Amino acid sequence: MNKTIIVSNRLPLQIDISNDKLRITPSVGGLATGMKSVHEEGKTLWIGWSGLKEEDLDDTLTRKVDQAVAQEHCAAVSLTGKDLDNFYYGFSNRTLWPLFHYFMEYTYFENIQWESYKRVNRKFADMVLKHTDDGDTIWIHDYQLLLLPELIKRERPNASIGFFLHIPFPSYEVFRTMPWREELLRGMLGADLLGFHTYDYERHFLSSVRRILRLDTHFNEISYEGRTIRVDSFPMGIDYRKFHNAAIAHGRQNEAQKSDLQKRLDTHLLSTPGAKMILSIDRLDYTKGIPNRLRAFEYFLEKYPQFREKVRFVLLAVPSRSNVPQYQLLKKETDELVGRINGRFSSVSWTPIWYFYRSMPFENLIDLYTSCDVALITPIRDGMNLVAKEYIATRVDQSGILVLSEMAGAAKEMNEALLINPNNFEQIADTLKRALEMPVEEQAERNAFLQQRLERYSVDKWAGEFLKALRATRKLHHVMV
Ligand code: UDP
Ligand code: G6P
Repeated sequence: MNKTIIVSNRLPLQIDISNDKLRITPSVGGLATGMKSVHEEGKTLWIGWSGLKEEDLDDTLTRKVDQAVAQEHCAAVSLTGKDLDNFYYGFSNRTLWPLFHYFMEYTYFENIQWESYKRVNRKFADMVLKHTDDGDTIWIHDYQLLLLPELIKRERPNASIGFFLHIPFPSYEVFRTMPWREELLRGMLGADLLGFHTYDYERHFLSSVRRILRLDTHFNEISYEGRTIRVDSFPMGIDYRKFHNAAIAHGRQNEAQKSDLQKRLDTHLLSTPGAKMILSIDRLDYTKGIPNRLRAFEYFLEKYPQFREKVRFVLLAVPSRSNVPQYQLLKKETDELVGRINGRFSSVSWTPIWYFYRSMPFENLIDLYTSCDVALITPIRDGMNLVAKEYIATRVDQSGILVLSEMAGAAKEMNEALLINPNNFEQIADTLKRALEMPVEEQAERNAFLQQRLERYSVDKWAGEFLKALRATRKLHHVMV
């Protein structure tokens, strides 16, 4: 029987080793949290990196790791310290990530890292080939594996290969600066179907294919080496029921069942009548606009002093890619800004910002989503942003306001949120005031539309539509040949 294989750089589970014991935690990030729901149906094998370094594993540990991942229907690709430096921290996260998010000033082009990127994509290809037969469906994810579709297509011409990019595809003017632009595009064109979160990313990709490879495109189809390749947009959804039901269960908790975090949140709300909470959750990444958000919040407290002592900003920043210098600088800048704003405005009974620098388990994310009146999500650029969708899904009484950057892919489907330009502090401050003062009826009206849409276009539906389109593309190909 034909199988479906998911391939991404990071597996949905991460392994650490201490005292020869494995500790397994779920991965953070939209790709892992979203695709996990698809994978949990148990019909797929997921190939990716376990989070460990090859040099840290002897034969016994390798066997243990392989067993642990196999139990979760996964297979681990092993990466060496050099691979991590040059492929992961290097080409993936110092070249592709910043360039595709329009941070050209952070983008490094280094040949050693490119060579490593090619080598590691080859490693992934070998692992995929080991686990697949010709008629299988192979669904490859994200910017770390742009060369993989072509590497597999060459050796498994009859496999159905889908590729989905979870980050923006930049405009041709930006993409053309990449020294290896042709190779990357040809790598992607090994797929039969290429998916993007939004129509704009799809359009940018097609324009690069036309202008760099000089290929003909017809609407959203590309003819290439005797194949017809389809390109389309599929905005990724969330597991709506999982978040909504968890929020319902959360509302029924008695005192003894509450987490320490929830008790702390409750104490704050009880001690300050009329107090409101603003929330943001992201990986600590420069694309997420965290310093801008903090400065805009500071400006809000200056411009509208009536909110001092009344609002608290809960900032959850999850450690990410901390070997990349730009992320280290961002950590320092964030720490300093939080310190400065808290130092400037705090009183005996009030600290304006609660700052958490760590990841939290699902239950605590639900505590935060359900306790905060406003979600303030202000990326400078973001492929989609699932946190925005998760916040809305947990608002079971339809209260709560989402303030969302226009630069997030999610903004395209979330018009009822209050959309802002993340560089416009005046607008953010005024919008925060509007959100905090919005009548509950208006909140409910906006959220009802948002929830309906999120429930209808859940992550299952997203995956189903992608796979259906992939099957249709393959049929098209068979009819043509
Ligand atoms: N998340 C998590 N643990 C945390 C904080 C966040 O698992 O401590 C999840 C969050 O629920 C969301 C994902 O990480 O599903 C972040 O996805 P998003 O699309 O917002 O951003 P990305 O990290 O992919 O850029
Ligand atoms: C984003 C990317 C994913 C990545 C995740 C976490 O969601 O699109 O590909 O896995 O961030 O980043 P990391 O570098 O820790 O895998």
